[in-house]
Amino acid sequence: MKVLFVCLGNICRSPTAEGVVRAVAARDFPAFGFEVDSAGTADYHVGEPPDHRAIAAAQRRGIDLSPLRARLVTASDFRRFDYMLAMDRANLIALEARAPADATAKVQLFLDFSPGDVDEVPDPYYGEAAEFERVLDLCDAGAHGLLRALSARK
Ligand code: 4NP
Repeated sequence: MKVLFVCLGNICRSPTAEGVVRAVAARDFPAFGFEVDSAGTADYHVGEPPDHRAIAAAQRRGIDLSPLRARLVTASDFRRFDYMLAMDRANLIALEARAPADATAKVQLFLDFSPGDVDEVPDPYYGEAAEFERVLDLCDAGAHGLLRALSARK
């Protein structure tokens, strides 16, 4: 099962989701072959590590985002991944607009898998540390819901 997390810059939300899901999968679903990656719909930060505030927030929960590097979503992602999960509706719409004719990935909101009633991960880029904590909380809830759902579906 291959899952790609997608936000705008690929330096705050989607690398956080990637790191959290990887950690939860390794701890709680060790036998489940889960591959995760992340990408952005905008090229502002391509090649850069995650935002230092995202790295610091994840580090406080024992997750290291520092090796990750931002990249753009590509046409081949739509064939390579089983799921492409957008952090918010703007990025969902951007993905739908870019899907090639032979796309096979399911494209939906990440928090569709979360039990809560929030369905978007808000952009923390112009926020404070608290917004980055909120991103982690939402990603954590999303990660557990996603892994439960996909491991049952396999
Ligand atoms: P992300 O956050 O989409 O969660 O990575 C953002 C990162 C950069 C910008 C906006 C959002 N930016 O405008 O540069």
